[in-house]
Amino acid sequence: MKLSSRTKILHAIVAISMILLLIIGIYMSENEVFALYPLHKSIGVIVFAFAMLRIIIRIKEGWPKVIGNASKAQMLMAKLVHWGLITLTALYPASGMMMSGGGGHGIYIFGVELLSSNYDDVTGKAMALNETVASIGHTLHEALTIVLILFVVVHIAGALKHHIFDKDETIKRMFSFR
Ligand code: HEM
Ligand code: HEM
Repeated sequence: MKLSSRTKILHAIVAISMILLLIIGIYMSENEVFALYPLHKSIGVIVFAFAMLRIIIRIKEGWPKVIGNASKAQMLMAKLVHWGLITLTALYPASGMMMSGGGGHGIYIFGVELLSSNYDDVTGKAMALNETVASIGHTLHEALTIVLILFVVVHIAGALKHHIFDKDETIKRMFSFR
């Protein structure tokens, strides 16, 4: 079974962006590098759009058929990880938007306003539009970090196992763009 070009291109874009945002996100919040926040958020909102497109394509095309004769347990594991990863690509940016939008910081893509901010004229501080939405978003955004790292590590290890031990086309068919 060949994979469609849109499956391959969207997988590459979303995979690279998610790994990049994971690194930028941890770095900027650990070290309080506020200058990176707009970049992190802008890429994140764009990823949300791509993730939505990808979910629609998965519903239309179904999941890629596994190459080789994997055991039932391996099939189940791959399925679980793929479902987990695709859900995280939507849930992660959604929680970020809840945190920023609900917290009164607004939602922007490189300066283009999607939801306006709500700063106090006197203090200049953000005033929450909805505390509950912001706090659920914040909690989720932080809690998902370890889950995403875990899923990505297992996913990459699985892909490498196909390539190195099974010596099959799993990685090649996902990354061949000719
Ligand atoms: C260097 C990193 C990565 C490699 C080498 C890689 C490799 C692959 C391969 C070979 C497949 C096809 C599996 C099959 O044929 O059954 C696949 C599918 C998939 N990957 Fe990755 N992947 C990487 C990163 C990521 C990341 C970061 C995400 C999401 C956060 C992700 C999400 C998915 C999903 C959801 C699928 C299922 C098919 C689809 O929806 O396109 N991958 N990956
Ligand atoms: C699309 C995928 C995204 C990923 C993978 C991601 C990842 C991360 C990570 C790992 C952190 C550090 C969390 C911590 O340990 O404190 C973080 C922080 C943050 N992210 Fe995201 N993010 C994404 C999208 C977004 C979006 C769309 C927004 C807002 C529009 C956003 C806003 C923020 C903010 C404001 C912080 C800092 C939180 C704090 O300082 O406590 N993120 N992100």
